[in-house]
Amino acid sequence: PLQLTLAILKPDITANPSVLKNVWTRILENGLYFVSSKHMHLSSDEAEEFYAEHRGKFFQNRLVNFMSSGPVWCHILCGDDVIGRWRRMLGPTKVLKTVYDEPESIRGSYGLTDTRNCAHGSDSDATAKREVGFFFPEFDFEKWYKEE
Ligand code: CMP
Repeated sequence: PLQLTLAILKPDITANPSVLKNVWTRILENGLYFVSSKHMHLSSDEAEEFYAEHRGKFFQNRLVNFMSSGPVWCHILCGDDVIGRWRRMLGPTKVLKTVYDEPESIRGSYGLTDTRNCAHGSDSDATAKREVGFFFPEFDFEKWYKEE
């Protein structure tokens, strides 16, 4: 089914124009579409709120510090099964597993650590709805699905 997902290109790759360009090219060459995009710099409070489900985890501080350390690109992506496809393009979260199992994936190619892992993708329709709403409050997620 046609779906929407939220992709975030994180500060580690937005600092590197050639990597950024490669990731955008991969998105288009895989047949995914950009619905809306925003370039922004998160405050640590915004990063903390976005990743609320990771509150209290051992990596929370480094995640929040990293995500507010530089600009990010947020994209609403559209495509058939885009949630699963974008996550498969990313590869696993853990960098060593990614480099070993999925070396051609985005994280396998450019991931540095478990935290500095290039990009984010929503993991379900419900998550996509919350995450798109977080970064694109003006975007009517429900209406987009109804109009299909
Ligand atoms: P993301 O897919 O954006 O979702 C949560 C983020 O937390 C994840 O990517 C990583 O950036 C970070 N993260 C997840 N697990 C770990 C971990 N074990 N150690 C450090 N950072 C992590």
